[in-house]
Amino acid sequence: MKAPESTERMEFRPWRKQETAAMLSICEKEEVMRYIDGPWSIKRVRGFIEEERARLVHDGVCRWAVWHKADDRLMGLCGFVRREEGLEIGWRFDPLFWRQGYGYEAARHLVDWAFENREADLIFAKMHVLNTASYALAEKVGMTRTARVRVAEYDDFQYEISREAWNAGR
Ligand SMILES: CC(C)(COP(=O)(O)OP(=O)(O)OC[C@H]1O[C@@H](n2cnc3c(N)ncnc32)[C@H](O)[C@@H]1OP(=O)(O)O)[C@@H](O)C(=O)NCCC(=O)NCCS
Repeated sequence: MKAPESTERMEFRPWRKQETAAMLSICEKEEVMRYIDGPWSIKRVRGFIEEERARLVHDGVCRWAVWHKADDRLMGLCGFVRREEGLEIGWRFDPLFWRQGYGYEAARHLVDWAFENREADLIFAKMHVLNTASYALAEKVGMTRTARVRVAEYDDFQYEISREAWNAGR
């Protein structure tokens, strides 16, 4: 199983149980979770780490733990869930790191990694229609809005990039 190499400022690592407290400090923040499913409890974070560890073993990809190289600090997550239609990409960082190009640096690297390693022919993302930061990031990595989907009492946008579109943009 080939893990993505590090970028200039970040490393992508498998999850370890020891990261529960650090991940909780990110996922308990209202501003981080506003457009996801609300602040997480420690139980939810433990479940997430278990899921991602299993996902990496079974699917060869996961939503990796992203580490800040400069101070060896957990920044959040970026990575994939393998679905029938392709890889679903996700991103989530501590507000400390927002708007400094980290999201783009991570997402660009992982999209390139997935296509270069033939992990998928399609990468897609879904986000709450009010999640401007998330869809600005999707657009910056070359994804195109393809649908608006009714989820519950709100809508999600769907964004995608195909291997062909990725190749054409290189
Ligand atoms: C979405 C998220 C990962 C973006 O990370 P980031 O490191 O701030 O992103 P970047 O700094 O690389 O910015 C990428 C682009 O998005 C834009 N952007 C980032 N935050 C924005 C905001 N709040 N409003 C408008 N645009 C925004 C940037 O300006 C940049 O575009 P530009 O180069 O044209 O200026 C971050 O906001 C986050 O963790 N949000 C909370 C968790 C979440 O909602 N995740 C997504 C669930 S679907």
